[in-house]
Amino acid sequence: MDFWERLGFRENPYNTKPLNVNSKDVDLLMGRNEEQIKFLNAIDSSSDGVLVLSGVPGVGKTSFFNVQQYLLESGQAPFGPRLLSARQLCPVNPYDEPRLIAERCVQSLCKSIQIYCSITGASLPAETKKISEWINKRTTANYSLGLTVLGNGGSFGRQISVSTIKDTTYEGLVEVIEVMVSEVVSTFNFKGCFIALDNIENLQEDELGESLITFRDTLFSLDNVWWILIGQAGLNSLIETKDPRVSQRISASIDLKPITDGALKKAVDQRVDEFHSGQEKGSSPIPVTIYTKLFESSNGEIRFVFKYCHDICLNLVKKVRTQMQKMDNGWGEQLFNELMGNYFVKKEIGERNCNTLLKELITENFHGLNLSQEIKGVLKLIGEKKSVSVKDYKDFKSFGIKTQNEFLHNYLTQLKDKNLLLRKTEGKLVKYQLRGIALIALEQELL
Ligand SMILES: Nc1ncnc2c1ncn2[C@@H]1O[C@H](COP(=O)(O)OP(=O)(O)O)[C@@H](O)[C@H]1O
Ligand SMILES: [Mg+2]
Repeated sequence: MDFWERLGFRENPYNTKPLNVNSKDVDLLMGRNEEQIKFLNAIDSSSDGVLVLSGVPGVGKTSFFNVQQYLLESGQAPFGPRLLSARQLCPVNPYDEPRLIAERCVQSLCKSIQIYCSITGASLPAETKKISEWINKRTTANYSLGLTVLGNGGSFGRQISVSTIKDTTYEGLVEVIEVMVSEVVSTFNFKGCFIALDNIENLQEDELGESLITFRDTLFSLDNVWWILIGQAGLNSLIETKDPRVSQRISASIDLKPITDGALKKAVDQRVDEFHSGQEKGSSPIPVTIYTKLFESSNGEIRFVFKYCHDICLNLVKKVRTQMQKMDNGWGEQLFNELMGNYFVKKEIGERNCNTLLKELITENFHGLNLSQEIKGVLKLIGEKKSVSVKDYKDFKSFGIKTQNEFLHNYLTQLKDKNLLLRKTEGKLVKYQLRGIALIALEQELL
C-alpha cells in the first residue's frame, strides 16, 4: 500500500503523470474548451496534416492531446473523424537524425496499434504483425521483410521489401509506416491515425529546420496521418522563422497557456473527490491559497504544483507521526491512518502550517542543488530582470562572464538543464526566465 492508499485514497490526487487515453481521464481535464474546438476543427478540416502543440513544460500538453485523442478514437468528440490514438508518443532527443526519428515513429505506431488491439480484443493485422516481429528481430543478418501496401479498399497494392530495421533507410522506414497506416484504415475502419513527436525542442535549431524539411515531402505527406509536433512555448513561431516550405505544411498551431486559477481549483476538487474512497464529499488537503500561489509563481506548471502539494502532505504526515511516537499514546498504525485520512479530506492543512512546510521543502531541495554563491547571484539577477537573452551577458560582468558564448553555455544552458530556467522562443529571439523552484527561491529570499 502506498502513502495515499493508507490515508483512504485510491490514487494520489496530486499525481503528476499526464492524463491518458482513456474514459476516466476525460473528466479530469479542466479549462480547455476553446483549445478543444480549435484542435478538433483543425483535425476535421483534412484527412491528414501537421499540428503544432506548444506550451511551457508541465502546462498540460500531453494531457490535452491524450484526452482529445480518446474522444476522437471512441467517437465521443462533439465532431471530427475517428482516428487511432498515438498511445506511445515518439520522443525526440538532441542530435537525432531524421532516420532515427523515423525508426522511432515505426516503433511508436506499431506499439499504438498493439495496445489498441489488446484493449479491444482485436487481433493484430497481418502486415503489422510481421512488422512487430521484424522490429524485435534486431540482429539477424539478411532478414528481409516483404510487405504489402494495401490499395484503396484493399483491392490492389504494391509490394515492398526491407532488411533489418537498423539497416533500413529513411525511405524504407517511411514505407513501413505507410503499410501500417493503410492497415489501420482498412482493418479497423478508422479514417487514419495520430503520430506524435514529443519534445521536439530538444533538436538544436539548425537540426530542427533540416529535419522538418526532410519530413515535409515524406512523412508529413503520408495519407491519413495526423502529425502532432509537441514542444516548447513559441515552437510555432520558431518553425515560421525556419523555412516557409515547412510552415506552409503546418495546418494549425495551438499554444497552450496555463489554465485559469478557477480551472485548477476544479481540477484539484475533482481529483480529490474521484480518488477518495470514502462516501462524503472531500476537499483538497492543501488549501487553495497555497496551490494557487504555487501555480502563479511557477508560470502555470501544474506538474510543479502537484509535486509540491504531494510533498507537503507527505512531510506533514511524517511530522505528525514523529510527534505521536513521542507522546506514546498507544495508537495503532491503523487508527493513525484513519484519523489522518479523515483529517486530509474533511479539513485542510492550515495555511500557516502549509507555508512553513513548503518553505522547508523548497529550502531543502534548493540547498540540495549545491549551487555556488556565484550561480545563485546569476539566478537572482535573472529573476530581478524577469527575463534575459544571451545578448544581456554584459550585465553579468560582475560574475566574471566575458562573452556571449560563455554566458550561454556555462550558465543559461546548464541552468536550463537543471530545470531552474525556462527557455522561451519569441520568433527568432530566445529568452530565459526563472522556473519552478528557482522562482520560489527568489521569493523566499534563498538566492
Ligand atoms: N487541463 C488540465 N486539467 C487538469 N489537470 C491537468 C490539465 N492539464 C494537465 N494536467 C495535469 O498536469 C500535470 C502535467 O501535465 P502534462 O500533460 O504532463 O504537461 P506537459 O505535457 O505540458 O508537460 C499532470 O499531472 C496532468 O494530469
Ligand atoms: Mg508532456
